[in-house]
Amino acid sequence: MIVGVLKEARAGEHRVAATPATIEPIRKLGYDVVVDSGAGVAAGFTDGAYEAAGATIGDATAADVVLGVDAPSPAQLDGVRPEATVIALFAPAFDPAMVEDLGRRPFTALSMDAVPRISRAQSMDVLSSMANIAGYRAVVEAAHTFGRFFTGQVTAAGKVPPAKVLVAGAGVAGLAAIGAAGSLGAIVRATDPRPEVADQVRSLGGEYLSIESPEVEVSKTGYAKEMGDDYKAREAELYATQCREVDIVITTALIPGRPAPTLITAEMVASMKPGSVIVDMAAANGGNVVGTVKGEKVVTENGVTIIGYTDLAGRLPAQASQLYGTNLVNLLKLMTPGKDGRLVLDWDDPVQRSITVVREGESAWPPPPVQVSAAPAPASATAETKPAKPKREPMTPARRFGGVAVAVLALFLAAGFAPAALLPHVTVFVLAIVIGYYVIGHVHHALHTPLMSVTNAISGIIVVGALLQIGHSGTAVTVLSSVAILLASINVFGGFAVTRRMLAMFNRS
Ligand SMILES: NC(=O)c1ccc[n+]([C@@H]2O[C@H](COP(=O)([O-])OP(=O)(O)OC[C@H]3O[C@@H](n4cnc5c(N)ncnc54)[C@H](O)[C@@H]3O)[C@@H](O)[C@H]2O)c1
Repeated sequence: MIVGVLKEARAGEHRVAATPATIEPIRKLGYDVVVDSGAGVAAGFTDGAYEAAGATIGDATAADVVLGVDAPSPAQLDGVRPEATVIALFAPAFDPAMVEDLGRRPFTALSMDAVPRISRAQSMDVLSSMANIAGYRAVVEAAHTFGRFFTGQVTAAGKVPPAKVLVAGAGVAGLAAIGAAGSLGAIVRATDPRPEVADQVRSLGGEYLSIESPEVEVSKTGYAKEMGDDYKAREAELYATQCREVDIVITTALIPGRPAPTLITAEMVASMKPGSVIVDMAAANGGNVVGTVKGEKVVTENGVTIIGYTDLAGRLPAQASQLYGTNLVNLLKLMTPGKDGRLVLDWDDPVQRSITVVREGESAWPPPPVQVSAAPAPASATAETKPAKPKREPMTPARRFGGVAVAVLALFLAAGFAPAALLPHVTVFVLAIVIGYYVIGHVHHALHTPLMSVTNAISGIIVVGALLQIGHSGTAVTVLSSVAILLASINVFGGFAVTRRMLAMFNRS
């Protein structure tokens, strides 16, 4: 079969469904590849690069499997052969007119934005790939419009405070935005009704703002549910406070199958400092912010810029095309079980069933729901189910004093009956134990390697001292010296072995 890569018809779409790097894996599945002339130019890929990768330049609509990013234009769809399969982002959940149009056509249409968010479909999850890029790009757009440092600086000419960023919704796009804003040096805060994302927010350096409401619970599906009035009232309070404080707000809140929830009201926008920036990533679904204009950048009366771009991923077209193309390659791998260049639609596979809008001219939309499962709950949420670890009882004052008294008595006895030379040695020995216990016990884990070097040096001194003693005194000293050499050598050679292993972990090869 021939796979065709379309030149996108929608004005402003810079992505392409295959890059020169994804041509080879498609060919390895047994397909020939035809690319529309100029299909990759907007993403930086020339016709020559596709040809060098093994594709030919020609009419992609005439292929057996037609790949696009956005839904192809009516003219392109008219050119598709009846037995062909078209794979693109048809957005059937939001565009009933498109579903109806496709239903009248004879071919098979698969929509990549309908891939269910289940573990085994992760490699084909275009929405996640694109949301990840879009979250990053939202921060870049915000930083560009903000026109000031994100990171705090102390210079000879004065101090610059770090920018404060609030991210509403810590799903795929939100987490990408938290990571990007944090790495630029901003103070990042984020909130989400799913408490299980708190650890992910913190692991990216953000502060999780929890909303204390009885409605908050770990999600069973991995998605947020519609929250009640109590949560909404507390959430509104939090957003009102934050909007007065922060410089940048990035909203990504989404509840599947519903219009985007309104989080930031006109009053909240009006309370923000002039020069502040809001990026409303949910603009395409109705927006999370009052005043967002879909696809546009607007400035309010009080000087707050609201960005409602719906093509954030497409603003990084080369990487967006690469990830989208890889998602398509993974779908083709799934649908080409024989690796023989023949596409097979497995109706019993929930992933393939979910993305099918039309099968050989028969409308298949909507698909049956797929059971999605949540990410494992954080440790704190599952703590009750684990058996509690027995706690070590702290030593009572009476036992502690008793211990000290026994030690002091032993010292006096040793001083009274032992040879005179022993006392200074015992004193040094006891002091070494006490100081060693407190010094080593308080060394942070990260510093254990340099600590090991120090103990290696001490072990070296022990080895030298013991070597000098061997054979010079009685049998007991020789035995003790031999034991000391053995133990100290274990520490020296063991230390080198562990260090070698740790260094190997940083070795690229
Ligand atoms: N503008 C663009 O170019 C662009 C590109 C990609 C994605 N998006 C949009 O970005 C949004 C996020 O996409 P995603 O893939 O990260 O979705 P996601 O489902 O992974 O994340 C959405 C998050 O919103 C949270 N949420 C729900 N209600 C909330 C509330 N009231 N307050 C705070 N958080 C709430 C959910 O718990 C979830 O964590 C979507 O609207 C998507 O369409 C926009």
